[in-house]
Amino acid sequence: MPHDSRGHAHGDHGHRGEAIEGRHSAVYDRLARLLMKPHYRRIATDIAAAAPRGAALLDIGTGPGILLKSLARLRPDLHLVGVDLAPDMIDHARRNLAGLDDLELHAADVAALPFPDDRFDLVVSTYSSHHWADPEAAATEIARTLRPDGRFIDYDFPRAPFEALTKSATLTPVRQTPFKSLFLKTTRFEAAAN
Ligand SMILES: C[S@@+](CC[C@H](N)C(=O)[O-])C[C@H]1O[C@@H](n2cnc3c(N)ncnc32)[C@H](O)[C@@H]1O
Repeated sequence: MPHDSRGHAHGDHGHRGEAIEGRHSAVYDRLARLLMKPHYRRIATDIAAAAPRGAALLDIGTGPGILLKSLARLRPDLHLVGVDLAPDMIDHARRNLAGLDDLELHAADVAALPFPDDRFDLVVSTYSSHHWADPEAAATEIARTLRPDGRFIDYDFPRAPFEALTKSATLTPVRQTPFKSLFLKTTRFEAAAN
């Protein structure tokens, strides 16, 4: 389950940098599947409204892939790709997304995305950007892999590094609004690739 990085949670994580690994990824996977599905369905519905028909969509820090599962149900026309720094999380995502055809999963850092320029129409992320060690490098990679004017939509805690993500001007902020959620204080941040 997402957690506020300023709180106690970091000390309890299995960390390689900011990756969530080992038994921590197993606990996260279980909680996300059991408790968080309705929340991810709401986020998926919001993304589905923004995604062009047949869009290529990248989810960064996909964790156990619960958002991608909801998106695949809502929008079978999308080509879905997920990356996570933690290979363990990618293993959980593979299990949770087994049987979906039009899907790719990779263990990778947001600051070194293994994709060509202009590959995606939409890049999204949920509760991951506050973990990114170098948000400016992340923004450069997101902008590089987005087609010109493609959108990045980030759902994260209000203290996520939204400002740093647009500092180097590879991404231009479009809007930043609260995203209504029953129990997680979430900001929806949207930016356009230059
Ligand atoms: C709180 S979890 C959120 C997972 C999923 N998006 C969700 O909402 O359930 C944060 C995820 O971001 C991943 N992560 C952290 N730093 C990353 C980086 N630099 N690049 C890619 N993924 C990263 C972690 O391994 C972890 O799976």
